[in-house]
Amino acid sequence: MQLVDNYQRRFQYLRLSITEQCNFQCQYCLPNGYHPNKDHKFLSLSEINNVVATFTELGVHKIRLTGGEPTLRRDFTDILSMISSYPSVKELALTTNGSRLLKNIHHWHQAGLNAINISIDSFSPHLFKLITGQDKLKEIIECVEKSLEVGIKKVKINTVLMKNMNDNLKDYLAWIKQRPVDLRFIELMETGETNEVFNRYHLAGNAIESQLIAQGWQLQPKMALSGPAKVYAHSDYQGRIGLIMPYSKDFCKSCNRLRVSSLGKLHYCLFGDAAVDLRDLLVKADQKEQLKARIFASLMSKPEKHLLHDHHVGITPNLSYIGG
Ligand code: 5AD
Ligand code: SF4
Repeated sequence: MQLVDNYQRRFQYLRLSITEQCNFQCQYCLPNGYHPNKDHKFLSLSEINNVVATFTELGVHKIRLTGGEPTLRRDFTDILSMISSYPSVKELALTTNGSRLLKNIHHWHQAGLNAINISIDSFSPHLFKLITGQDKLKEIIECVEKSLEVGIKKVKINTVLMKNMNDNLKDYLAWIKQRPVDLRFIELMETGETNEVFNRYHLAGNAIESQLIAQGWQLQPKMALSGPAKVYAHSDYQGRIGLIMPYSKDFCKSCNRLRVSSLGKLHYCLFGDAAVDLRDLLVKADQKEQLKARIFASLMSKPEKHLLHDHHVGITPNLSYIGG
């Protein structure tokens, strides 16, 4: 059985959020920091196991842990070990702000983590603090270097583009010149709670793209099953630049991912109007067939594309709920 929707998109990639908690205050996500909701009980290790067992049987072979900040969970290393014990999981990835990385990356790598995206929204210490609320640029840069050093195969940097704030391409290019790292500019997306930030700071990725092209960067051919990023490379640079432009035409055509939130809800689109609760079927390991039937049924309602252009942002208040 394979996960294919009504528009012939195939889903082999699951983004699994394991907490809403975060210790940063990124302006575009949690500007006032995280405030716990006592009714929100995040998936347990055994529930996560049941998610993974089912989705791998449906052909998923890449799993990314997201949050909130996933590494704030005390059982984070156990979660990695459990997921990597499934032979069909070829890529076990993490999106992190890096705050817990330096001390732990060695153990995480041993527990099976093989890809990592670290958020760095500016290479200026001042701007980094202004955007994230944390004076930690130096430490987070060390995280990238340390991840490469311990042997993590894919190391990427995520930068959320903000107009007149962190949009000076030069700073980023200098950094990746000698480092084999993909840096991805993510266009700011509007969510339920963040429309003011969006109106003020949204910048279309084309602004960066045209500068890259003018400087001789070349668009790389899309690999089969690669996601919606456009990737540029240049022979003078070891690193590459990726652009994630959710407002561009046909962005949703290459959608290859499904999302499960830390509350056990399946979100078939980041900006969807509904999520399908899987939780009652995650309690016991023997409910896989029912779970599969529910996942299939919900996939049939996955829309062809999002309606962000009409400011239709869906049910998610900010991306700390489902990890972007
Ligand atoms: N728009 C774009 N990216 C966002 N992220 C969080 N909120 C937004 C938003 N509104 C990104 C983070 C991180 C990933 C988890 O999602 O910067 O890279
Ligand atoms: Fe935390 Fe990530 Fe949201 Fe920043 S973007 S506040 S690091 S969850």
